[in-house]
Amino acid sequence: MKITFLGHASLEIKIDEFSIVVDPFISGNPFASDVDIDSLKPDFILITHAHQDHILDVEKLAKENDSIIISNFEIVNYFQNKGLKGHPMNHGGKWNFDFGELKYVNAIHTSTFPDGENGGQPGGFIISANNKSIYIAGDTALTYDMKLIPLKYNLDLAVLPIGDNFTMGYEDAILASDFIQCDKILGYHYDTFGLIEINETNAIDKFKERGKNLILLKPLESLEV
Ligand code: NI
Ligand code: MN
Repeated sequence: MKITFLGHASLEIKIDEFSIVVDPFISGNPFASDVDIDSLKPDFILITHAHQDHILDVEKLAKENDSIIISNFEIVNYFQNKGLKGHPMNHGGKWNFDFGELKYVNAIHTSTFPDGENGGQPGGFIISANNKSIYIAGDTALTYDMKLIPLKYNLDLAVLPIGDNFTMGYEDAILASDFIQCDKILGYHYDTFGLIEINETNAIDKFKERGKNLILLKPLESLEV
């Protein structure tokens, strides 16, 4: 799997010939101005929850690429009502897609659409393909539910929010990394707005003190698992 950071909480994941875009918020993010949204050709769009900074570019991308939107029931329903394609899931469920197995897991957060529509309950995803598994936490607090993940999955990478205020901060992300038994963490959801600015060097050092690796990418930088 090749994971490319697209700014804030947006990712592109390439598995074999498939492109999966997660939580696209590109056109509204000045820090992602190098990302050419028209170069993205997602076969699938994964949405963790309905907040603006996770769904802004879903309609455009899905319409232009005939993408399948995967999220909770309410979010998929919302986009299906706009004529887009979707596959609804709910917490604890998994499904085998063409790219691999996907599980929708718990997150502690909220999930109302910008227009006030009900966005169901927020979640995260575990993607398993080609003998690798990654966890994308979405916006979430640190939660004991994370301890369930290593009972079934041996994670090769976890993508965790570290910006604090709206989600856990990096101190809690270190504890999350213990809970999920994965020491390789890609940090996201930080620095985009004033309320989630962090000291990046400090965050990386704190992980290092615990023998863990916090990776912070610039938009369009990638890593491979
Ligand atoms: Ni959110
Ligand atoms: Mn968010």
